[in-house]
Amino acid sequence: MDRGKTVKRIGIAADILMYLLLTAQLLCVFVGVTVHEFLGMGFFACLVCHIVIKRKVILAMFRKRSTKRSGARLFSDTVTVLLLLCCVTLMLSSMGVSRIIFPWFRYVQSVSLHRYLACAALTLAVIHGGMRGYMRAKKKKRAGVLIALGAVAALSFGLFGVPYLDRHFKKVEIDYAGKVSGDKLDWQGGRTLTVYFTRLGNTDFEADVDAVSGASLLLADGRLMGNTQLLADMLCDIAGFDKTAITLTGKKYPSSYASTVFAASEEIKSNARPPIEPIDTSDCDQIILVYPLWWGTVPNPVATFLEQSSLGGKKIYLIATQGSYGFGSSADDIRELVPDAEVEEVMSIYCDDIPDSRQRLKDWLESINTAK
Ligand SMILES: Cc1cc2nc3c(=O)[nH]c(=O)nc-3n(C[C@H](O)[C@H](O)[C@H](O)COP(=O)(O)O)c2cc1C
Repeated sequence: MDRGKTVKRIGIAADILMYLLLTAQLLCVFVGVTVHEFLGMGFFACLVCHIVIKRKVILAMFRKRSTKRSGARLFSDTVTVLLLLCCVTLMLSSMGVSRIIFPWFRYVQSVSLHRYLACAALTLAVIHGGMRGYMRAKKKKRAGVLIALGAVAALSFGLFGVPYLDRHFKKVEIDYAGKVSGDKLDWQGGRTLTVYFTRLGNTDFEADVDAVSGASLLLADGRLMGNTQLLADMLCDIAGFDKTAITLTGKKYPSSYASTVFAASEEIKSNARPPIEPIDTSDCDQIILVYPLWWGTVPNPVATFLEQSSLGGKKIYLIATQGSYGFGSSADDIRELVPDAEVEEVMSIYCDDIPDSRQRLKDWLESINTAK
């Protein structure tokens, strides 16, 4: 068989496989870590194959720097270079977060960075592939629109779809005592109450929720638990604080994660104050408030707690858990809700990092451990 044709076919097969693998990799939550890591190896093997086959085109792209190129060609070449750079950094970050194949590689260890790079790689790959069609297309405008739509879809899938699927389907099982118990701290900072809000206890879960417990829940030694609840338990184990949960007395949130997201958005729009069980804060000098970020702010039941408790003159430390980054406008919103309280800066913790946050919490408590 003609060697050129065989190489071309291998190239096309590797290209198709790369797109499929990249998409499958973003759906890591369904395939598990081991398969994810081996598929990743497959992706990079295909990439090397692609680069070897296209080496002449790639080299020509750099050599042609001095010659005049059309705008579309320039754009396409820029995307190709960015994609190459993105794939190299993605490869390094894949090794950094690897637990099975490269456990010895301890650089670029950020899971969030890894996810963002994968999302950028998919988006750039869609544009890169699309530009090949654009060059040949007769109806350029239509081809351009299709590429833009494909890129937006890939970007949205990576930025919003993947975190959503992760939160909804990932089942996290932890060894509770191993994560929560450890070195203690001699707390000097006055009487401190940890107040937390979590979906657990505030949601009408279906009987089979264990099977889908990833909806921002953990299985701690087989027991269902909320992320913020685990953080509160860690804080109390470290410094011996008392803790209490913010608990709804009226209608609870729906079992489905998506419906809860919707219900929360309705509450925010209507500035609702869902009724909660009263929490006595009179005995404490300060509060550590642990809350999940909901729509970039505090959940409305937390607003109820802040408004209905007498917190004037008290210090409030904030810990926000989130599924993306930062803490949105939550700190400013809390300051508005309790203008007489002394509201400190927020510590923001990514939800996947929560089970391994004990040391971080202890370091943080040490930094604020000053006598009242
Ligand atoms: C209604 C709702 C809205 C959310 N909004 C955001 C958000 O705006 N930004 C974010 O990073 N995470 C968001 N998340 C994710 C949660 O903050 C994150 O999963 C948190 O760790 C959940 O804590 P919990 O298990 O104690 O409830 C949202 C989750 C829910 C249920």
